Amino acid sequence: MARRMLIVGNWKMNGLIETAQALTEDILSGLSARVARSGSVRCEVVLCPPATALYAVNQRVGGSLVRLGGQDLSEFESGPHTGETGGGMLRDVGCGYVIVGHSERRSGWGEDNARVARKMAAAFRAGLQPIVCVGETLEEREQGRTLEVVRAQLEALFPCLPPQSDTRQSLVVAYEPVWAIGSGRHALPEQVQEVHGFMRRILLERLGEDGHAIRIVYGGSVKAGNAGSLFALEDVDGGLIGGASLQSVDFLAIIDAVPETF
Ligand code: PGA
Repeated sequence: MARRMLIVGNWKMNGLIETAQALTEDILSGLSARVARSGSVRCEVVLCPPATALYAVNQRVGGSLVRLGGQDLSEFESGPHTGETGGGMLRDVGCGYVIVGHSERRSGWGEDNARVARKMAAAFRAGLQPIVCVGETLEEREQGRTLEVVRAQLEALFPCLPPQSDTRQSLVVAYEPVWAIGSGRHALPEQVQEVHGFMRRILLERLGEDGHAIRIVYGGSVKAGNAGSLFALEDVDGGLIGGASLQSVDFLAIIDAVPETF
């Protein structure tokens, strides 16, 4: 069965409630116009606003074409963890997805592979679909260690995956080379396909058919101008979009770049 393409907007630490609601409404009306024109949207769309805007954005997206996601979660469910947000709380506010192990958290907040795996498990326990980010730094790429780094990040997840097939299949992996994030320098299609194909083979080896259903999206300076060539790649199942998700016109143009065949 073909995997459904997925486009995720990661707004990071940008926007207050009013701007978040306005952006959501612009995206929703753009998507409705596309449905009116062609009968459907070609992909699943997820918006990940800052935590403070989740409730307000959910008021707008509830029951619509768009799903809501958090940008991070605690590995714990509740308790004395000041400033943290549990997966159940994200569900409570309307989230169906959560980004886990973004490189800005791995590097800025000391999240290692083991903690990322525990956070993924916490997301599954809360009934959320984790979007787990992996990717090498520029230094690691220059040392020829890209595949080794990505393999270690992926392998760390397997012991924490739940046993149920349908839950495992709902995992999303995002390949985000750290040097491409927010830099305006996206990875070349051949670099992206090399890593995505490599991860697909590992997923198939380790999980059999379940590994076939897991979506692998690309993130790192995706723009309307390069989205088409990235989304056309065999093992790319969508995109995780940062900067270009903050303007509805840019984000909608990226959604339009999803190939028709999906
Ligand atoms: P970018 O960010 O699209 O601005 O490069 C991607 C991300 O950090 O998820």
